[in-house]
Amino acid sequence: MPRALLSAFRVGTLELRNRVVMAPMTRNRAGAGELATPMMATYYGQRAGAGLIVTEASQVSADAVGYPKTPGIHTDAQVEAWRQVTDAVHDAGGRIFLQLWHAGRASHPSLLPDGQAPVAPSAIAAAGKAFTAQGLVPFPEPRALALAEIPPLIAAFGHASVRARAAGFDGVEIHAGNGYLIDQFLRDGTNQRSDGYGGSPANRARFLLEVTEAVAAAWEANRVGVRISPLQTFNDMRDSDPTRTFRYVAEELDRFDLAYLHVVEAVNPNARDLGLAISPIVRCAFDGPVMLNGGYTRDLADRAIVDGLADLVSFGSAYIANPDLIERFRHHHPLNTPDRTTFYGGTAEGYVDYPAIGDEPTLLRA
Ligand SMILES: Cc1cc2nc3c(=O)[nH]c(=O)nc-3n(C[C@H](O)[C@H](O)[C@H](O)COP(=O)(O)O)c2cc1C
Repeated sequence: MPRALLSAFRVGTLELRNRVVMAPMTRNRAGAGELATPMMATYYGQRAGAGLIVTEASQVSADAVGYPKTPGIHTDAQVEAWRQVTDAVHDAGGRIFLQLWHAGRASHPSLLPDGQAPVAPSAIAAAGKAFTAQGLVPFPEPRALALAEIPPLIAAFGHASVRARAAGFDGVEIHAGNGYLIDQFLRDGTNQRSDGYGGSPANRARFLLEVTEAVAAAWEANRVGVRISPLQTFNDMRDSDPTRTFRYVAEELDRFDLAYLHVVEAVNPNARDLGLAISPIVRCAFDGPVMLNGGYTRDLADRAIVDGLADLVSFGSAYIANPDLIERFRHHHPLNTPDRTTFYGGTAEGYVDYPAIGDEPTLLRA
């Protein structure tokens, strides 16, 4: 039995039943008005055995959208709709944080109010394609944010945090990874500003640190996690010196007394070695709880905790296919295989119909 992974852990004032976290995952099944649905409540409720759930990325404002059918956290109706999700998870004894998100350049005018161009630190288009209602289309060139537009954006994260609290979440996670707006500020491949938000690591980290300040002021820092992905190349991201950039980020985040720092090491198994090189640096620079993610198995995760590299480990695709992942880990039960064709959008199929141990064998997926 993986004892370390299944042992309880305290995050701020919250007691987590175990150190297994459900990683944030966009599933594109929100309803009209970017509302959480009853099916989403079922999905998250089924996975409440995790020590902590981090929801799918949720836009902090109407112009933060990056994909179709993602939920928002900027209207009263959205707060109300999320309540069914937080209730379902709490009724099952779980804990749930909302992931706060702005897509930045990783978007498309067809997804944004009045067909406006996506915004970014600099007017540099990402190579690759946007996922729109019309299918995959090339990313457009984003509009570089004017200096005066930055404070309202930071405030939007603070407002979203207030709304998340009102919706019954236990905390929020600031999405500063995977090539979305905050990450676009952090890395020099996407940030070529010449003002106080570009240039040195300190300047590039300023946006994240000001967002963190706003979000923590709106709640308490120990209800706020931050997610970074220093080596992630998804969304055409790069940095000339990720060690320097993210050591600085981790050192600066350390002064907030955050719930945790969530580090995506790699999603590409071939990059795992590279990923492992940065997380120990982050671990040294940041005294609070560290959550690791990226290709972990039960045994690798248990080892990371025993070795002191992580306090928590999050699981993505394994949680899509295994609502009862904790029980499977506990009893060394085989895992269901996730069906990639139903990851993004669709119906209940591949979303709330994965069998738990003991369910009808006819429900078993390929
Ligand atoms: C379907 C899907 C959707 C995802 N959406 C998000 C997201 O909304 N926010 C985020 O930070 N990461 C997202 N990710 C990345 C996961 O959180 C995680 O980093 C990745 O799956 C690697 O972990 P794993 O190897 O345990 O699956 C997504 C991954 C998948 C498979």
